[in-house]
Amino acid sequence: MNKLKQIHAFAALILSSMLFVQYGCAQKQPSDLSAESIIPKPVSVTAGGGYFNLRQGTEIIVDGSSEELLKVGHYLAERLRPATGYKLEVKTAVKEPGRGIYLTLSGADPASGNEGYELTVTERLVKLTAAAPEGVFRGVQTLRQILPAAIEKASVQEGSWKIPTGTVTDYPDYSYRGAMLDVARHFFSVEDVKRFTDFLAFYKMNVLHLHLSDDQGWRIEIRSWPNLTSHGGSTQVGGGKGGFYTQEQYADIVKYAGERYITIVPEIDMPGHTNAALASYAELNCDGKARELYTGTNVGFSTLCTGSETTYKFIDDVIRELAAMTPGRYIHIGGDESHVTKVEDYIPFINRVQEIVAAHGKQVIGWDEIALATLKPNTIAQCWASEKNSNAAIGQGAKILMAPARKAYLDMQYDKTTKLGLHWAGYIEVDAAYNWDPATLIPGIVKENIIGIEAPLWTETITNIDEIEYMVFPRLPGYAEIGWTPAASRNWDEYKMRLASHGERFSAMGIDYYRSPLVSWPQGK
Ligand code: ACM
Repeated sequence: MNKLKQIHAFAALILSSMLFVQYGCAQKQPSDLSAESIIPKPVSVTAGGGYFNLRQGTEIIVDGSSEELLKVGHYLAERLRPATGYKLEVKTAVKEPGRGIYLTLSGADPASGNEGYELTVTERLVKLTAAAPEGVFRGVQTLRQILPAAIEKASVQEGSWKIPTGTVTDYPDYSYRGAMLDVARHFFSVEDVKRFTDFLAFYKMNVLHLHLSDDQGWRIEIRSWPNLTSHGGSTQVGGGKGGFYTQEQYADIVKYAGERYITIVPEIDMPGHTNAALASYAELNCDGKARELYTGTNVGFSTLCTGSETTYKFIDDVIRELAAMTPGRYIHIGGDESHVTKVEDYIPFINRVQEIVAAHGKQVIGWDEIALATLKPNTIAQCWASEKNSNAAIGQGAKILMAPARKAYLDMQYDKTTKLGLHWAGYIEVDAAYNWDPATLIPGIVKENIIGIEAPLWTETITNIDEIEYMVFPRLPGYAEIGWTPAASRNWDEYKMRLASHGERFSAMGIDYYRSPLVSWPQGK
């Protein structure tokens, strides 16, 4: 080989090995944003094929001077810190940066509403655009879900933090997407409620309904009626010590939820489900005798004295204090299973309580039985049991919140082998929890009647956060998707693949979940 040939051969070798390296890298590291397991499924996803690398030194840049948007930037930095170990700097800027993570309220499509967002990822810039900070916050959840699952771990992890390039355009189908936690049958700490709230936030849910009073316990401090908590809050199902939230603790929950764009809907159940109140104050009983505290699980045996003015003074005080500490627009008045209240007493009672709630500037939600009364135009009926009542509510012009027990109750057992929970409304496997459409489930209830969906967790059999997690996961993401993603875009066979890949995220978050045999969970996790 002469010298020139040798040089040519050498150059060819270098070139081909460079090509190999490039090609090899491309082969080894394809990215496909459209194949990422995002729950709820977004409206549209377009893949770019490359990666943005999140590194030590990546900056989170917030457009303009919105304090609220800046808080979302700090929330994102905090979410990314434990697993990466990076202390990402959060800054403000007046124009779009060349690189980094950029959060902005300009250029959003107003048709996407306050919760809609657009996420565009290039090799240099991750950009989240929304009409309101709330939308940017929802988009942050998508960003978390397209990072490796280890991003959810609580301690520093080895490895690179790649975000696939492309675009996500997204907005919700229903405006109300919630879950309920019964803190009355068993009491749960502020920390537990915050963890539950974080689960909702991760799946873009926006309401946490707290069932704050029932026969077994009164869980919210009412300063004008202190025995409600000192006595009525002193036990729970099975006779444990119970507990309650002080007004400061409740304010802390409201704030924590608010920072996640989650509205707290507080429920004071009445006129039934009131034994804890009836045990705390003799004058709330028609016979003037205080009831014993109750630690069993029967329902339908208690009632406030609906004909007594003391009862309405009590309700006015409770709603006044509750409304003052609740920034959200709704107060839930229960109204379910008042089996020992005569219907001729129940109807004027609900009518009057609606007026009390309105006088304190709030809007009523009640379980579907309230349709027996004359509903105010903005009252919401929560469909849980009765198709007839729900249709009667619609007949009065009310909107419906869909929480049908046989589909949406998180305390229903998965199958006959489930040790926790109940099954009076049936067994709800993960596919059954997902595979229904609020707008076609019940004859007479169509989409325009529905404000959204809620998945209640009653806690007669649930005593701690691990048990909550077992009943909630993996069904909660499905309820979140029903609320967010239009029915026409939902399909169990496709969803169950995305859900399977969330198994790794549940594990990273330390969630003890039910490994449904219908889903191919990751091995060894
Ligand atoms: C309910 O499950 N009693 C609303």
